[in-house]
Amino acid sequence: MTRAIYPGSFDPPTFGHLDVVARAAKCFDEVIVAIVVNPQKRGPMFTLDERVEMLRASLAGMPNVRVEHFRGLLADYLKAAGADVIVKGLRVVSDFESEMSAAMMNRSLSNVDTLFLMADQRYSFVSSSLVKEVFFLGGDVTSLVPEPALRLMTAKRGSGDTRA
Ligand code: PNS
Repeated sequence: MTRAIYPGSFDPPTFGHLDVVARAAKCFDEVIVAIVVNPQKRGPMFTLDERVEMLRASLAGMPNVRVEHFRGLLADYLKAAGADVIVKGLRVVSDFESEMSAAMMNRSLSNVDTLFLMADQRYSFVSSSLVKEVFFLGGDVTSLVPEPALRLMTAKRGSGDTRA
């Protein structure tokens, strides 16, 4: 029984994330998509409940995938969840620099290795932050985010409420 953790902010989830989950679900018995509650980067646009809901709805067809969340150190969560491996997506070479030090740090803290999966090349330019910027400036992101995320983003744009 191999359990992989795919951690991230998922603010919002994109087709790139879903593609990585689908690839991981083929490699491991169980994949836990783990949403970090308070990402270090900056305040999320979507609440934790919204991110859980968008991911659960988008991943409903994958029986060996579940959505959880954690606060604090990923290394501590890995131990609590009994994880065998961390899964991360790599898009372009520039992702590698920060991901390599994160992988080393997580391994030194938890002795859990990180395996990198490349999403389909159609999504190599897709990030949650770019999707948000384009969408809230009126751009079309239909081909980049799953329907549950698009629906919530559309509601937020309509109400002018773009803060979690
Ligand atoms: O989707 P993101 O924002 O790129 O994901 C980053 C994430 C959540 C994987 C990373 O920030 C993380 O692991 N945060 C938890 C806090 C932690 O353990 N930090 C040290 C990581 S080496």
